[in-house]
Amino acid sequence: MSAESQKQAVAEAAVAEVEADSVIGVGSGTTVNYFIDALADSGKKVEAAVAASEASAERLMTHGIEVVDANSVRELSLYVDGADEVNRHLQMIKGGGGALTREKIIAALSQRFLCIADESKRVTVLGDFPLPVEVIPMARSYVGRKLIEMGGRPDLRKDFITDNGNIILDVRHLDLSQPIARERELNGIAGVVTNGLFAVRPADELFVATDTGVQRFEAA
Ligand code: 5RP
Repeated sequence: MSAESQKQAVAEAAVAEVEADSVIGVGSGTTVNYFIDALADSGKKVEAAVAASEASAERLMTHGIEVVDANSVRELSLYVDGADEVNRHLQMIKGGGGALTREKIIAALSQRFLCIADESKRVTVLGDFPLPVEVIPMARSYVGRKLIEMGGRPDLRKDFITDNGNIILDVRHLDLSQPIARERELNGIAGVVTNGLFAVRPADELFVATDTGVQRFEAA
């Protein structure tokens, strides 16, 4: 099964988890695009969605699904999103598409975070995928130096500005063996908006598509 067919399969499985007439959180990325399309095709009506990116908001609206501001909801029953890497504790690296800050806000607002992914995203240890760090532009050099002091190798994501008007540093070679401590430490650097480690608030469930069907995991 190709990665694209795997994404389609987990997206369809996730649609079955959506409660009709609920307000849901919708992430960002190619796997989520399949989810948005599958939700629309299913005919299941949600009250509205909070979207993690302008691109997802636009896709939802194109399908006639209402998009509401995160400030208008107290909590979300379900959040569906992809990941760049996910370990057995359902801690993730996210932000390959640059939507990490809004994704983290939606994750915090959600009772249930369902991660949907193709098989290639499952890892034993997080860190092969460069860790995205969203940074206020005036802090670029300062944050870059701090990341180097921590053992990382930051690269400015070229020609990219986040939906929040910030830059992304993609960081290689950081030791991510203690993801919760690392996530907090990185968020403590002045000028960092947030980083792509989702360990303090991991996913609650993971759907992974394999050649033998969609497998469901809870945190180990
Ligand atoms: C965007 C994300 C995405 O969830 C992550 O990059 C996975 O994307 P894709 O489904 O395209 O592989 O975190 O910021």
